[in-house]
Amino acid sequence: MDLPTFNRQWRVARRPLDGEPVGDHNFDLVSSPMPVPEEGEILVQVILLGTSPAQRSYITGGVGMHSKLGIGDPMRGRGLGIVRHSRHPAYREGEIVIGSLGWQDYALLRPDGTTGTIFDIYKVDNPVWPLRLHLGTLGAAGMTAYFGLTKVGQVQPGDTVLVSAAAGGVGSAAVQIARALGGRVIGIAGSDDKCAWLRDTLKADASINYRSADLAGRLRELAPDGINVYFDNVGGTILNTVLDHLALRARVIICGLIATDYAPGERYGPPNYTRLLRYRSRMEGFFVQDHAAEFPVAERQLRAWYDQGVLLPIEDPSQGLETMPAALGSLFAGGNRGVRLCQVAPDPSPG
Ligand SMILES: NC(=O)c1ccc[n+]([C@@H]2O[C@H](COP(=O)([O-])OP(=O)(O)OC[C@H]3O[C@@H](n4cnc5c(N)ncnc54)[C@H](OP(=O)(O)O)[C@@H]3O)[C@@H](O)[C@H]2O)c1
Repeated sequence: MDLPTFNRQWRVARRPLDGEPVGDHNFDLVSSPMPVPEEGEILVQVILLGTSPAQRSYITGGVGMHSKLGIGDPMRGRGLGIVRHSRHPAYREGEIVIGSLGWQDYALLRPDGTTGTIFDIYKVDNPVWPLRLHLGTLGAAGMTAYFGLTKVGQVQPGDTVLVSAAAGGVGSAAVQIARALGGRVIGIAGSDDKCAWLRDTLKADASINYRSADLAGRLRELAPDGINVYFDNVGGTILNTVLDHLALRARVIICGLIATDYAPGERYGPPNYTRLLRYRSRMEGFFVQDHAAEFPVAERQLRAWYDQGVLLPIEDPSQGLETMPAALGSLFAGGNRGVRLCQVAPDPSPG
């Protein structure tokens, strides 16, 4: 295949101020000559990029496990691509790979498996089509929901499970997986449309619009015996309110903090944390990559639920590399339903 002579790449241009939405103004789209692989390297055409609210912290240096990027640095991000040129013995042209590809059309990579986490490059041996499933419901979003609910939340049949940002990527998977595990599921989302969709399409038992409802009142009505498991994607005041409605020996899964903007700065704990003592409950954070050794098990389980129709794939792609900053910004405005991805290039044809 003839490759273009130039590669487009988003680079960090300006850091967002506290509370300021992230978008095009924070990045520059720069063209530079197409890199040429040396011995041990591969050139990957990016097909899809994932988004995550935590990507905001890559440029602000807020909460997160990654170092802060400098002005002018290429923007980092996980994606899926196809090997177009290989000078690495373990990779062949046409193979599908997932890893830290960055916000660009082509990524030059030196696969060495050094970190042992999802940030390493790995091959997708039996691709499922459309390929976006691998970054969405069967990929990081589904895995995050799966490990949070099974390892941290230890959901048992009959548990009342509450999920925040339930109509988002991780949240929509968490709602469906919690049901598959036998939970009674309540989803929290930011609009009546999303709430109806949670009940009608994802089969949540109930939903709450946090923007219009009295959250505490609705929790009293819907969970009079308390919440057994809270899958928290947002933090902030929603977390604080939910803490006041925990059941005895409840598990609070700290998955994400979007309500805090992923901004740096001083933080205060939620005052209602005292309920943890009174109700012998625990609150625990986790990173999906902590469970890398069990990814194959999770993949098989997610695939089985998908094949049985228990787990609907909910992906919400934007189109074109140029839409990537807006795709990230939309997460903070509730503009997505399901996993927000960016389709950078069309899926190659299967086989
Ligand atoms: N721990 C891990 O290993 C891990 C891995 C992946 C992702 N995460 C975290 O998991 C969470 C979900 O990630 P995702 O990629 O699937 O994003 P997402 O949930 O699809 O997108 C964010 C959603 O959050 C809601 N939201 C935005 N601002 C909010 C606010 N101030 N208060 C309440 N809700 C708000 C919006 O929906 P509404 O319309 O409902 O407001 C929006 O659609 C994120 O916090 C992410 O950082 C953690």
